[in-house]
Amino acid sequence: MKILVTGGAGFIGGYLVDFFLNKHKVIIYDNLSTSSQSVVDALIKKGALFIKGDILDQDTLSKSSEGFDVMIHLAAKSDVTESVSHPRIVKNINVNGTINVLNSCIKNKIKKIVFASSAAVYGDSSTAVTEKSETKPLSPYGTSKMLAENKIREMSKNNFDYTILRIFNVYGKRQNKQYAGVISNFIENISKNIPLLIYGDGSQTRDFVSINDVVNAFDAAVKTNSSGTYNIASGKSISVKELAEIFRHTSAGKIQMTYKPAKKQDIQYSIADISLAQKELKFNPKVNLKEGLSDLVSVSN
Ligand SMILES: NC(=O)c1ccc[n+]([C@@H]2O[C@H](COP(=O)([O-])OP(=O)(O)OC[C@H]3O[C@@H](n4cnc5c(N)ncnc54)[C@H](O)[C@@H]3O)[C@@H](O)[C@H]2O)c1
Repeated sequence: MKILVTGGAGFIGGYLVDFFLNKHKVIIYDNLSTSSQSVVDALIKKGALFIKGDILDQDTLSKSSEGFDVMIHLAAKSDVTESVSHPRIVKNINVNGTINVLNSCIKNKIKKIVFASSAAVYGDSSTAVTEKSETKPLSPYGTSKMLAENKIREMSKNNFDYTILRIFNVYGKRQNKQYAGVISNFIENISKNIPLLIYGDGSQTRDFVSINDVVNAFDAAVKTNSSGTYNIASGKSISVKELAEIFRHTSAGKIQMTYKPAKKQDIQYSIADISLAQKELKFNPKVNLKEGLSDLVSVSN
């Protein structure tokens, strides 16, 4: 198959391109706004093709995707804080950029799109969210993902199949420091021997999923030829304070914790019900959080 990956030079994209290269022809379409040429160079060496382009540039995007079978759409502004300070820019890229991707699919008769949506579409929920749970995003980022999803469903009719993956908190090596979540920040602080920064009292929970499990979800998504929306997570949650304690153990209890007021747009509780993805995509997360973290910490030290 020929697969085009928008945002293929980013954190998740780099892993996906590397994975799909073994079986398919893969093109990265990325403007490198939050990623680097060195990641692309390494993937080119392994056989990937690269087009430096913006998803807001409809002409280049449509020309670049001629003759493709699958579009994996990752390119986005995914920094929640930036979405609060620059909501229009984020909405433009995440929603209008997605519409351009969909127009390119229709123009080029691309029959399948896989979209990286986010747990942020749900907002807060004290119980595990299913795909049927109400979407109540707390940030412009979450709203932009929700609007992009709606466009995909609307424009898919008689045109293409879609798989929307509502991805929860991903962790793995090479995560973009600027946009990364709490795990990358903790690892960085440990490497610099400075206290772990916790927003609020640390009781907020997250459902962390390993990048290796996320790659398997995309693989399954590319293979299905029906449409659907799925939670991609571990199905288990942990509080930020508990997470900090795990890191504290790895540093033999030497590292301290420091606190700042909670950010308004931060979700308090996040945990996914993944039974639909388990049933329909045969998605079965395999990486246990403690094992995944010890792998990361040993690498970063
Ligand atoms: N990492 C996570 O925990 C997580 C969780 C849920 C959803 N997601 C979603 O998954 C996708 C990938 O996330 P990531 O962590 O790899 O992010 P990332 O920032 O590492 O990668 C995004 C890539 O998109 C590119 N890009 C941004 N704007 C572009 C534009 N206008 N045109 C072309 N390319 C553009 C960037 O240069 C970058 O290479 C995003 O859509 C994100 O919202 C990520």
